[in-house]
Amino acid sequence: MLLGLDIGTGGTRAVLVDKRGKLAASAAVEHVAFRSPQPGWAEQDPEDWWRAAQEAIRAVIAAAGTSQIEAVGLTGQMHGAVMLDTAGDVLRPALIWCDQRTGEECDWLHAKIGRERLIELTANPALPNFTLTKLLWVRKHEPEIFGQIAHVLCPKDYVRYRLTGTYAMDVQEASGTLLLDVAHRRWSSEVARIAGIPENWLPELFESQEICAEIAGGAGYTGLMGGTPVVAGAGDQGAGAVGMGILAPGSVSATIGTSGVVFAATAAPTRDPLGRLHTFCHAVPGRWHVMGVTQAAGLSLRWLRDTIAPGVDYETLTAAAAQVPAGSDGLLWTPYLLGERTPHLDSSARAAFVGLTAGHGRGHLVRAVLEGVAYSLKDTFTLFAELGIPVKGVRLGGGGARGPLWREIQAAVYGYSTDVLVAEEGGAFGAALLAGVGAGVWPDLEAACGEAIEVAQQIEPDAKAVERYAMGYEAYRKVYPALKGIQG
Ligand code: XUL
Repeated sequence: MLLGLDIGTGGTRAVLVDKRGKLAASAAVEHVAFRSPQPGWAEQDPEDWWRAAQEAIRAVIAAAGTSQIEAVGLTGQMHGAVMLDTAGDVLRPALIWCDQRTGEECDWLHAKIGRERLIELTANPALPNFTLTKLLWVRKHEPEIFGQIAHVLCPKDYVRYRLTGTYAMDVQEASGTLLLDVAHRRWSSEVARIAGIPENWLPELFESQEICAEIAGGAGYTGLMGGTPVVAGAGDQGAGAVGMGILAPGSVSATIGTSGVVFAATAAPTRDPLGRLHTFCHAVPGRWHVMGVTQAAGLSLRWLRDTIAPGVDYETLTAAAAQVPAGSDGLLWTPYLLGERTPHLDSSARAAFVGLTAGHGRGHLVRAVLEGVAYSLKDTFTLFAELGIPVKGVRLGGGGARGPLWREIQAAVYGYSTDVLVAEEGGAFGAALLAGVGAGVWPDLEAACGEAIEVAQQIEPDAKAVERYAMGYEAYRKVYPALKGIQG
């Protein structure tokens, strides 16, 4: 068996995958909800991830009735800053990926290094999500903590440290720190020096499938055997892409969870000179990826449900939406409930329904949200076209791939032939496949994905809907500039 472990935001998930790439068991344990001591702040206690990881590993081993585990792969929420002292003790709660407090630090970095130079060096501009900006906030506001830092890790790498005693990070995860020279897959000494971050705080770097550590004897209460190899793994987006077989240039996924991500594998580090897409190392050696992020994708639908129809299930709501024609009789939704990353890079953007009439009912509101989220993901495809990033087909993932209506809307809005997979198991599954390659179960990720991943359904976009949505998308793109800055 191969163990994949996903340290998410809401909880930790452990899966066991057999040597044919089939899911054998899975277990999930919730985290304590993140704390928000001030609006826009988001903090979690790394000790809580470690508790959840131990419980999830124990549970999955019990469910499968075996502790014969060949290798372990880790994945998790990206970007969070875990700060440790010389003894490896946590200095303060981690500032996690969705913490938005570091706008001033982003401006400072752009002024100090130059926005264009920063994109040249790290392939990305400074965004409040990225780890480096969080370290700079601590330097300014909590100098006594900053002065004690000896190690910086991301969330899953902290759990690895507790399992193995080793400080390590993979290059895909490291891309989201803003301290990586993404093109050369090594730490950027120049950025670290200019930003004033000692390079010896940063862990050793590995490719995702490389074995970088082994389980320490008696590491917590996990049931894992001492000496079990641990591969470097990847951030949730990298491992999730592996779990969907998005390895080669031309393959693209659109995943709608709380946020929405359109992810493309690339042969080279393709930079967006305006920084609207993230350009990261892929979890595949010698490959990179670009991705665009919609902050509130699935969250838009959950917000609408909780607001206008609390307690009503999603099936009932989407059944009402299915009665409404494509285009929602002219109603549009822009999903900027949490500001927006792609393409606007505007953490103060606001969401809107535009074009309401007395004839619109609940089904229209729901359908407009499903369509608006798809339009927002389409913005990333538009950037791909602008930058010459090839798209041969799209694989759908996350909650947005589960119901037929949202699948069909996505296929028609994106305008590509679209696949739904038999089992889309998220990042933990990809982490287990990475562990399998590290342990020699498969020679490479192509072989692992070739065996493990199966397409359940291929959707060809409906020609009439494609035409209607092309019009809707043109209208959608006018909403953000027209409403920018307007607030009640
Ligand atoms: C990726 C990102 C999210 C987090 C949380 O850039 O911010 O995917 O990793 O899941």
